[in-house]
This record gives sequence, C-alpha cells and structure tokens, in this order.
Amino acid sequence: MAYQTLTVEIDDYVALIRLNRPEALNALNSQLLSELGNALAEADQNEKVRCIVLTGSEKAFAAGADIKEMAEKSFVEVYNDDLFGAEIDRITATRKPIIAAVSGYALGGGCELAMACDFIICADNAKFGQPEINLGVIAGIGGTQRLTRFVGKSKSMEMHLTGRFMDATEAERAGLVSRVVPATKLIPEAVATARKITEKSLVAVMAAKEAVNRAYETTMREGILFERRTFQALFATEDQKEGMAAFLEKREPQFRDR
Ligand code: HXC
Repeated sequence: MAYQTLTVEIDDYVALIRLNRPEALNALNSQLLSELGNALAEADQNEKVRCIVLTGSEKAFAAGADIKEMAEKSFVEVYNDDLFGAEIDRITATRKPIIAAVSGYALGGGCELAMACDFIICADNAKFGQPEINLGVIAGIGGTQRLTRFVGKSKSMEMHLTGRFMDATEAERAGLVSRVVPATKLIPEAVATARKITEKSLVAVMAAKEAVNRAYETTMREGILFERRTFQALFATEDQKEGMAAFLEKREPQFRDR
C-alpha cells in the first residue's frame, strides 16, 4: 500500500519504515499515526517480514505530536477522540519485533513512540525529551509510564517537569537505548541487528517479545509463570528440536517457524 507520511521498504525479511513529514520534523499527526498503524499491521501479516525497523530522518525521529493539529482542540474533543490512544495501542499490538532507530530529535510523542517499540538503537546526535510541560500539558501516549520504567523516577521526573533533553550518551547510560552508534552507521546497524533476529525461529522471537513485555504489564510472580509456561510450550515446536539438534551436531540451525 502507498502511504503519504511514511515509506516502507522490505528487503531480506526486514521492513524499514521511515517517517516522512520533513516539513514538520516528522511531527505525529492523525494521518501519520493511522498510516503507521496500517503499515505495522501489514508487516505483521506479511510472510516476507520477520523484523521491523522504524526510523525518521537524520534531523528528527519525530519532534512530537503535531502541535498545529492539537492547538485548538477542546477537552471534550480530545476526550471523545481519546486522542492517539487507539493509534498507540495498535502500534504496541504488533507481534513482530520493532527496533526504533533514532537520529536527531525524539521529543514528546516522538520519544513515546520510540519507547513503544521493542528497543531503541540511537545515533550519537540523538536527543530525547518530554517537553510537553513547556506547552502547558503532559505526555499523553505513555511517556510518564514508559520513561519512568526505562530510566527510573528521578531522571524521568526531572525530564517531565523541566522538559530538558537527554543526549545519546546519557540515554545509553540511563538504559533508555540499547546502543549508540555513529549517525552515518545508524540504519546499517539497525538493519543488521534486525537481520540477526530474522534468522531465528519467528515463533520463539514472538514468544520472547511477549514474555519480556510481561515484565512491564504484570507482577513478577505472574510474569515468571508466563515465561515458564511459554518456555515449556516452545518444546512443542519443531524449531526447538532443530535448534537443539543443530547445537549438538555443531551446525547452523534451519528454522522453519513450526
Ligand atoms: C508541529 C512542528 C513540531 C511539532 C517542529 N515542527 N516540531 N510542527 N508539531 N511537534 C515544525 C516547526 O513548526 C517548523 O515548521 C519545522 O517543524 C522545523 O522546526 P523548527 O522549530 O524551525 O526547527 P529547529 O529550530 O531546528 O527546532 C527543532 C525542535 C523544535 C527543537 C525539535 O521544532 C521543537 O521544539 N519542536 C516542538 C517539540 C515539542 O514540544 N514536542 C512535544 C509536542 S506535544 P515551520 O512551518 O515553522 O517551518 C506531544 C504530546 C504527545 O508530543 C501526546 C499526544 C497524545
């Protein structure tokens, strides 16, 4: 499907989705979030996709929700629309892994979108922030919850209360991103990482994603139980037999997603 606010390239089982509203530093408007939801749902369905990389431009992953689109809205309008609630839920419902490749600004809704992905690799020019406080509002698509779980209360609170940006070094030290790479290497590194994931058993990859996400959604006890049962269930797959046999026979596994 053709999109107006993003592009999708599929190559060797990796879907590279680029946000593409350069005139507004990829600010997230309703059209972009709706197209992104559609693109992710299509990637989830497409057998030629096993991992997704979501990126923006060199200057901006996304500079937040589109302030022009929101500025004149009333409480009743944003409440009735549940502004961007359904859109972000669709994004987090994606079952295949999504790597956020962040260069430049990831602010407000842009930071929240990156955190809604499964992990973040960023360029050394990345800047993360929740500057909504400067607009007289607060984060609205998960930032107060996700940033706090990534970096802890003190840093998260400071960022939400002051609107200050975090650079790439601080983001890595604080655990917000898995890795920092030179800006020119961002896409090749993110795609190479995605490609490693495409070589695994997709059923095990999706199970791992679900299990790690339980750490954010339930108690330790329930999460451990979910992991244990999912681990046990994977013994019903051919890929488990193949993966373990390949190790013992000192050869590469041939996973078939069964
Ligand atoms: C709409 C935006 C935008 C945004 C940038 N632009 N961010 N338009 N919404 N969030 C537009 C600018 O108006 C400008 O358009 C063009 O992009 C380039 O931006 P500049 O400001 O000229 O660039 P620069 O001076 O380099 O500054 C970059 C920046 C700044 C630091 C990222 O643009 C900025 O502070 N943006 C807003 C960041 C922000 O507050 N985000 C949080 C939004 S609220 P023109 O037409 O003038 O050239 C949010 C809530 C989420 O995200 C919850 C939703 C439910």
